[in-house]
Amino acid sequence: MKYIIAIIQPDRLHEVLARLDEKEIYLVTVSSVMGRGRQRGVSEVYRSHKEAGNLLKKVRLDIAVNEDFVKPTIEAIIAGAKTGQTGDGKIFILNLEECVRIRTGETGSVAIG
Ligand SMILES: Nc1ncnc2c1ncn2[C@@H]1O[C@H](COP(=O)(O)OP(=O)(O)OP(=O)(O)O)[C@@H](O)[C@H]1O
Ligand SMILES: [Mg+2]
Repeated sequence: MKYIIAIIQPDRLHEVLARLDEKEIYLVTVSSVMGRGRQRGVSEVYRSHKEAGNLLKKVRLDIAVNEDFVKPTIEAIIAGAKTGQTGDGKIFILNLEECVRIRTGETGSVAIG
């Protein structure tokens, strides 16, 4: 199991969700976050409103998946988020130890999807 965290431009969220849907990846947590990358928020101002501390508004996606879905998830995020401009975002892939569905007590791969 992997835990995939993606930081994307807010204006790409709709497209990323559509690409995930196409691959039947429906379970996702979406958060509004602020961040800065290599340009430290300086050269991206034209794309989004800049906050104090050179932080730019971003969207974070958290997706826990079984191994079979790791590649499709990453491909869908890239397909939806990539413009080729700086600030397109980043994907972090973490090993996931455990997952528990609270309602049923199921754990592991069964509990993820
Ligand atoms: N190493 C990192 N650690 C934590 N968050 C990061 C890191 N790199 C990027 N981020 C987050 O991802 C967002 C988008 O990063 P961004 O796409 O600008 O990365 P970059 O490395 O600057 O690449 P590019 O040169 O394409 O802009 C940042 O605003 C920040 O929220
Ligand atoms: Mg950047």
